[in-house]
Amino acid sequence: MRTAFAIVVLWTASFGALTAAELTPLEQAGKRLFFDDQLSSPVGQSCASCHGPEAGFSGPHSEINRQTGIYPGALKGRFGNRKPPSAAYASYSPARTYDDKDETYVGGQFWDGRGADLVEQAKGPFLNPLEMNNASAWVVVQKVQKAAYRPLLEQLFGKEVLNVDERGADKAFHKIAQAIAAYESSREVNAFSSKYDAYLANRAALTPAETRGLALFAGKANCTACHPHQKGDDGSPPLFTDFTYDNVGTPRNTVNPFFQQAAEFNPDGAKFRDLGIGAIVKQPEHHGKVKVPTLRNVAKKPDPQFVKAFLHNGVFKDLKEVVHFYNVRDVTPDAFGPPDVQENVNKDELGRLGLTDAEENDIVAFLETLSDGFSTPTAPPKPLPPQVSGGTFPAARDVLRVDRLIRHRTATLQRDDTIRR
Ligand code: HEC
Ligand code: HEC
Repeated sequence: MRTAFAIVVLWTASFGALTAAELTPLEQAGKRLFFDDQLSSPVGQSCASCHGPEAGFSGPHSEINRQTGIYPGALKGRFGNRKPPSAAYASYSPARTYDDKDETYVGGQFWDGRGADLVEQAKGPFLNPLEMNNASAWVVVQKVQKAAYRPLLEQLFGKEVLNVDERGADKAFHKIAQAIAAYESSREVNAFSSKYDAYLANRAALTPAETRGLALFAGKANCTACHPHQKGDDGSPPLFTDFTYDNVGTPRNTVNPFFQQAAEFNPDGAKFRDLGIGAIVKQPEHHGKVKVPTLRNVAKKPDPQFVKAFLHNGVFKDLKEVVHFYNVRDVTPDAFGPPDVQENVNKDELGRLGLTDAEENDIVAFLETLSDGFSTPTAPPKPLPPQVSGGTFPAARDVLRVDRLIRHRTATLQRDDTIRR
């Protein structure tokens, strides 16, 4: 299924005038790499195997989402521990810092913020034994040397970059990652073409249910405290995340196949608890906190029967379930099972929202307006998504206005550049 889909997409990228015209050559190269399922060991898995555009660049297999929410690696029997977040809009996450005033980390890549930026992030899955499972950068480079799109990469990087032996592998691998990051930063991936975007531009009207949902989202339900919904003063579009970290009390996903992974990958076995960013910064006061995900495309699916998995461990299968959980978590705790991590659960901003069943439905109706593909934008949003330059991205504060991001950003955390994937 995936292979057939990837071929169609590659074909469109190469020959379809519309799609190709919108992408720069570097973005096109990145797209070929993103969808190439020959770059895993064994072959058969691409980035898109876990980040499919039809599912909002998140997990594209309904059955996996329904059963566990956790995706298998290229090597049979191996599994990671988390649900694939959307790779779209991730380019806006700033480098990780600590916000003294709000006492929270902000930014970084992955649920736990351990990735420095998209370029470093893109290298991870290729080498992660639980994902694409290549033994080294050199193994990946050798595969790219045989790829049909090698001439495109040579045009961009110069022939000498790919025409290397093992000693040149790291440099070539870095270029490969830059191309992927460029695609992930492209207009195609960050389309800002949802009904809500059209509504903000006065080009579409929301239905009564969606309008009520928006009012609740930004009002009584307080979702906007972490998932901001307003345009910046400069017209920058909202991202529905402030890139901060929280423990929303996510229940344990008891069927997570990671519990059964070999001790070399999961020394804790069934006792594994996901400490989120707490494990990265080694600070107990951040145990259980994960990055607030964007809600753009959270409802996007290829067909109405398609099941998506939600939250970092994929425990919920339905947006209504998520909203209901936020609403009554502390009213009927037994209904959900205990949080995976008991410490630091946010009880101030969620857990007892007092929403009626109809109000929960209205919020879901609003979330469904956040799926890209509603309209073809005529003009790019201001400002444009960040561009790749030498592996660094402008911080989100340069391109958007999120109050919690621009206030009192003093203590800069030393970056954890090690690739742990
Ligand atoms: C086997 C499934 C799988 C494959 C293959 C895979 N990913 Fe992921 N991806 C994940 C999971 C799971 C996470 C979250 C991991 C974590 O937080 O520890 C993730 C996280 C990410 C993120 C971070 C997004 C954010 O908001 O923090 C990006 C970007 C991403 N992947 C891009 C890629 C790229 C590029 C490739 C190919 C080179 C790729 N992924 C291959 C499963 C996968
Ligand atoms: C205190 C901050 C905070 C508030 C308030 C908040 N969220 Fe979240 N939201 C998060 C965090 C953090 C996650 C990820 C939690 C996890 O994966 O364990 C998340 C995850 C989600 C997800 C799942 C996304 C995905 O890709 O799996 C949805 C849907 C969601 N929130 C909707 C809402 C709605 C609707 C509201 C208002 C009723 C709301 N949130 C209020 C912080 C918040």
